[in-house]
Amino acid sequence: MPHRPYEIDVMISAKTIAARIEELSREIEAEFSDTDKIVVVGLLRGSFVFIADIVRELDIGVEVDFLEASSYGDGMESSREVRILKDIRGQIEGRDVLVVEDIVDTGYTLDHVINLLESRKPRKLRTIALLDKPSRRETGVRADWIGFEIPDEFVVGYGIDFAQRNRNLPFIGKVRFTDDQ
Ligand code: IMP
Repeated sequence: MPHRPYEIDVMISAKTIAARIEELSREIEAEFSDTDKIVVVGLLRGSFVFIADIVRELDIGVEVDFLEASSYGDGMESSREVRILKDIRGQIEGRDVLVVEDIVDTGYTLDHVINLLESRKPRKLRTIALLDKPSRRETGVRADWIGFEIPDEFVVGYGIDFAQRNRNLPFIGKVRFTDDQ
């Protein structure tokens, strides 16, 4: 089915994102100041740009691992059923872990991932999400650090897609449909 036509309005500029990542990195460094090295677990695919920026801003030892969970498919609605498509490669028992998520929407993805990783007994597990849509939450989950709270809008860019498009925009943009449906 062809895409409904849409335009993208800038919601959060690249400069604003970079400044916020600097602030968050100082807080994360303080939280993990007693650790030699943390494991940064990025949730694919939406967080790949955020992970790249945050690990380069962090002045602590980091290992990078990835986990892919599915809840959205190609649509605009969460399926609420989270499946692990790709697990992390490394062991996290007794280690300090930072889970990096792009957006917490209903919260099912982050909730599921936290439960899974906690069952492997890390010493400390913390979570960061670039964006949070609190009005959409259907679970009790909350990330330890949040870049920006946003309203219930569908967003793209900075790693985040709409049916696999627009991940390469350097800013967070809001999708605005231009047909009259
Ligand atoms: P949740 O399980 O409902 O919290 O959904 C989290 C995932 O849904 C995120 O990691 C995104 O991949 C996706 N998602 C949620 N909101 C948006 C959006 O506005 N644009 C694109 N993807 C989104």
